[in-house]
Amino acid sequence: MAWYSEEQIEQVRQRSDIVEVIGNYVRLKRSGSGYVGLCPFHNEKSPSFSVSPARQMYKCFGCGVGGNVITFVMEYENYSFLEAMEYLAGRAGIELAQQEMTAEQKRQESLRAMLLEINTKAARFFYAILKSGQGKQAHDYLKQRGLLDETIVRFGLGYAGQGGDSLYRYLKQQGYQDSVLKETGLFKMDERGVYDKFWNRVIFPIMDINNHVIGFGGRVMGDGKPKYLNSPETKLFDKSRNLFGLNYARQGKRDYLILCEGYMDVIALHQAGFSSAVASLGTAFTELQANLMRRYTKEVLLTYDSDGAGQKAALRAIPILRRAGLNAKVVNMEPYKDPDEFIKGLGDSAFEERLKTAKNSFFFEAEVVRNTYDMTDPEQKTTFYHELAKKLLVFTDKVQRDNYLEAVAAKYTIRKEDLRELVIRYSNRMPEGYEQERPDRELKRSRKAEEAGIEYSYRLLLSWLIEDTSLYEPVSQLVAPEDFCEENYHIVASMLYEQLARGGVLPAKIINYFQDVEQQKMAAQMFQTNFQADMGTEEKEKALNELIIRIKEYSIDHQMRNLTDMEQLQRLILEKKQWQTPDKLHISLKDG
Ligand code: CTP
Ligand code: MN
Repeated sequence: MAWYSEEQIEQVRQRSDIVEVIGNYVRLKRSGSGYVGLCPFHNEKSPSFSVSPARQMYKCFGCGVGGNVITFVMEYENYSFLEAMEYLAGRAGIELAQQEMTAEQKRQESLRAMLLEINTKAARFFYAILKSGQGKQAHDYLKQRGLLDETIVRFGLGYAGQGGDSLYRYLKQQGYQDSVLKETGLFKMDERGVYDKFWNRVIFPIMDINNHVIGFGGRVMGDGKPKYLNSPETKLFDKSRNLFGLNYARQGKRDYLILCEGYMDVIALHQAGFSSAVASLGTAFTELQANLMRRYTKEVLLTYDSDGAGQKAALRAIPILRRAGLNAKVVNMEPYKDPDEFIKGLGDSAFEERLKTAKNSFFFEAEVVRNTYDMTDPEQKTTFYHELAKKLLVFTDKVQRDNYLEAVAAKYTIRKEDLRELVIRYSNRMPEGYEQERPDRELKRSRKAEEAGIEYSYRLLLSWLIEDTSLYEPVSQLVAPEDFCEENYHIVASMLYEQLARGGVLPAKIINYFQDVEQQKMAAQMFQTNFQADMGTEEKEKALNELIIRIKEYSIDHQMRNLTDMEQLQRLILEKKQWQTPDKLHISLKDG
């Protein structure tokens, strides 16, 4: 595997002018100090995609994408980081010298290669048992669930035999060391010996987008518990960044992806010709999975289970999809539980019909909220309208927000002027949906919400500092990079402060400090948070001061949590008090 030094990455970035590169893909028009055009990442009629030559960044006010020249090429061309580097270097006439891998990197590479090999062998082993006499019951089970032999082959389904250590012995015969086998997640190893993790289960190999087997799911045949058993996270298998079935779905011709909950749903849908179905892997849908989907599509049709849990899962996935710039719609599976059962019950064309009539995800959310209120009670009805107004804040594009506002005002019989007034009232608070940030982290709920809120605050402040660099002086007196209590934000804040102190802001450079694609996107995202543009100076001042207080208080709380020394605790308590003085302005935005 090739990799490049930080200097080389920076050289490629510097020599690839963002306006020139993006200009090859998007028709850009000059506007003020920058350029605007129609966003290539979502459908729009009026341009909300802007490119800044000074910052060497792009940003779409409509769908929220943004980044530097390297991330643009990655997004647009579906390139990996290395491919993007090679492409841009070629364009700029730079010869890339590949770095020698360190001994540790070589070791990790060969371990990964070995784990892939073992997984492939295991998948073949399970398949062979399924086809043997020993696998008759499992094969009957799959047949009884309506799977054709060609489907079984295509998805590489198998059967883990009656138990014991047959897979282990098979792999040992092939010469693999225990230390390597341990890393596969396929075995239980303790003082008493080594056992196969999967036994007497139907096996679903999980493949990444390159058709490599990275893990397994296994189902009991019948009602045993747990119904599904999955591979643990390994060096190869990260549940939060893979989707079952995407290796096939990405080749599909349809311009949407269908997101379901289960293995069997995906398999049944593919068999029925809906080859764009994928499933999250028995975990809550994550931001990384949404980003992965965005490489292949702009629209996601949700076919989650029609029960309460399924609805909850959909409500959770929608904001994540939206933040990734994906258009989400919700497909109604009633009266069936999931797509697998639906297809069996009503057939392919009925399913196709349901896809066509999928509901706009915002209307879906609004309807769920509405159903929790008794609309004949004036109090409850009022609360519902307030909730609706808050929900509308997710739309940062003015035209888009207005369109939704008009639609729901008509639907829920409130004058649009009245609803708009409510929206404006809430518009300087945190938008709905941010509390659901990072659902993949199963932390305690309250703590999680707090962290999501604080990350939103960090993003606002970072974005604001870039927008208006004159704020650096006063802000840096109050908030230090150390006050950003999350590692990635801390890194980004330190780098930005350093740039600001030297007088030149280059967020594009900060992004490439991170070499991991998802981390780059996260860093780019940190500069993409919009303030209400139509705020007056006074409102702005108030918002900025609130923001600073929030960040300081959180920072102090954070320090207190990790403290044992009484004296320091005293000092922090005093400091916190100072921040809490009501109405004290820490920064003034007015001249003079
Ligand atoms: N799942 C899991 N572990 C469990 C239960 C479920 O990993 N103990 C994951 C599996 O990927 C499963 C999905 O969650 O496919 C949805 O679960 P569920 O709706 O309970 O099952 P179905 O997909 O409907 O499975 P089946 O049709 O085989 O009953
Ligand atoms: Mn099912």
